[in-house]
Amino acid sequence: TPLSHIRNFSIIAHIDHGKSTLADRLIQHTGTVALRDMKEQLLDNMELERERGITIKAQTVRLHYKAKDGEAYVLNLMDTPGHVDFAYEVSRSLAACEGSLLVVDASQGVEAQTLANVYQALDANHEIVPVLNKVDLPAAEPERVKQQIEDVIGLDASDAVEISAKTGLNIEGVLEAIVTRLPAPKGNPAATTKALLVDSWYDAYLGVVVLVRVKDGHLRKGQKVRMMSNGAVHTIEQVGVFTPKMVPVESLGPGEMGYVTAAIKTVADTNVGDTLTDDRNPATEPLPGFKPSIPVVWCGLYPVDADDFEKLRESLAKLRLNDSSFHYEAETSAALGFGYRCGFLGLLHLEIVQERLSREFDLDLIATAPSVVYKITKTNGETMDLHNPADMPDGSLIEEIQEPWIKATIMVPDDYLGAVLTLCNERRGQQVELTYVGSRAMAVYRLPLNEVVFDFYDRLKSVSRGYASFDYAMDGYEPGDLVKIGILVNAEPVDALSFMAHRSQAERRGRSICEKLKELIPRQLFKIPIQAAIGGRVIARETISALSKDVTAKCYGGDISRKRKLLEKQKEGKKRMRQFGKVEIPQSAFIAALKMD
Ligand code: GTP
Repeated sequence: TPLSHIRNFSIIAHIDHGKSTLADRLIQHTGTVALRDMKEQLLDNMELERERGITIKAQTVRLHYKAKDGEAYVLNLMDTPGHVDFAYEVSRSLAACEGSLLVVDASQGVEAQTLANVYQALDANHEIVPVLNKVDLPAAEPERVKQQIEDVIGLDASDAVEISAKTGLNIEGVLEAIVTRLPAPKGNPAATTKALLVDSWYDAYLGVVVLVRVKDGHLRKGQKVRMMSNGAVHTIEQVGVFTPKMVPVESLGPGEMGYVTAAIKTVADTNVGDTLTDDRNPATEPLPGFKPSIPVVWCGLYPVDADDFEKLRESLAKLRLNDSSFHYEAETSAALGFGYRCGFLGLLHLEIVQERLSREFDLDLIATAPSVVYKITKTNGETMDLHNPADMPDGSLIEEIQEPWIKATIMVPDDYLGAVLTLCNERRGQQVELTYVGSRAMAVYRLPLNEVVFDFYDRLKSVSRGYASFDYAMDGYEPGDLVKIGILVNAEPVDALSFMAHRSQAERRGRSICEKLKELIPRQLFKIPIQAAIGGRVIARETISALSKDVTAKCYGGDISRKRKLLEKQKEGKKRMRQFGKVEIPQSAFIAALKMD
């Protein structure tokens, strides 16, 4: 296909605005998947998706479209993940395209994530076509939303495409807009080969599959290609495209997207953002790459049952195979035994991994409090990255602690603005901007990431009754007055419960966690003191009073089956407990205790 007849595009949207539905429609409308195969194919796709780790990975589909001008076009649709945690994956997907469809729900309007995604697309020099979806809904207000797009984003929305992805209304209009309004890719077929490594994953049959976007030259079967970042050379075994099934082709030329396999052993041997070039005729300059994805949130994961450690190790290795942004390293905790310190791109990523470990790998885990990465300068001039509060050096050895900040964009209906601002202020937020978009307020805040990782998102949803939308980007490190708060249960320090906090919040958080633990730890036959301390200084204390009665006592010895049930329930509960000295702490206490109010 000549370059002039190729379009590479992605769809950007806020969650639930209809990105997946539109993608399905485009696939269906271009006959890429015959209607009767549609269901099966899409299920196949989901299977792949599942293997590859929820929907965090980019995917691409090649569509064939005969336009109104009578010409046949190849449209490559690049899927992008929607969530803030995967901003990095979005940026690399966008770098492989020339244009974007901006899908906005015509009944909801612009949301925080819409903005974040648009800025990324503009950074990638994309041409953007606004698409107003869900115009079939009675609540749709396309004119108002167009005005919003112009006011907030500064994008001309007068010729936005109005559609219903659900009913299939005006899908043709979207396809025509892609052909007529998005630019064709540029590239030189005669030049030396340069292809961008967009993504890679492990396939049980093919080994490592590498998703590429060819900029110049060609990729062919049998060709020796070199990875410019590390000089590794591989012989291409297969090149192909996604329809969305993987279909081998002869070669991939400039402007094209597809995959190559080359007997690469592990995903770790492929660096996303790398440039593939011809080994015999190599390029001198690589394509502009990406910044590597850096985990920003860490937590410890420990098996509830120490016998499961080996299983945990294997499961983490399997997860890592297809998720190179997930990091882990062995660690031991005095309280929890052997486990792993795991690094994530953000909180959703953490939740996804935890969820998969318990669901797919059937592991019962204790997760310690999520922590951000602090940069510590010691009095002797040494610097260290602190991933685990338990490793915090003694206060007298510390010169300075720096913590990461984010820039957050929050959009919220006016009615809830007050509550949202209060929440941001409580979390040490600094207001950068406050503007209005119709009846919705847009607040831009700088916030310490530490204040966001626990439960900011939950709190935001709850104070705004679910109406606020939120997005963020990392915004550098700054010195802060931070302290480590240790928790002692029955005078024993429980390292897994220690956490970092700003000094101004230390007492309140210490008190709140002691109160919660008091409720969460079952009463036992003796009194249990619970204390929070900074260094040797106790800042909060609660006591769990002793209990001497048998739980079955309240059954009056009468109903034996009920009694047995209770005992069984108690046994079940035991499995999810962890012994600390003389005290058993339920697994739920670890997570619940660390949530802030
Ligand atoms: P994520 O995958 O979660 O990011 O969401 P998405 O943006 O891909 O949205 P999705 O396509 O899953 O659509 C979200 C919901 O909106 C689904 O329940 C769809 O059925 C519905 N929806 C999508 N398009 C339309 C439309 O044109 N009209 C109406 N009424 N509903 C739609």
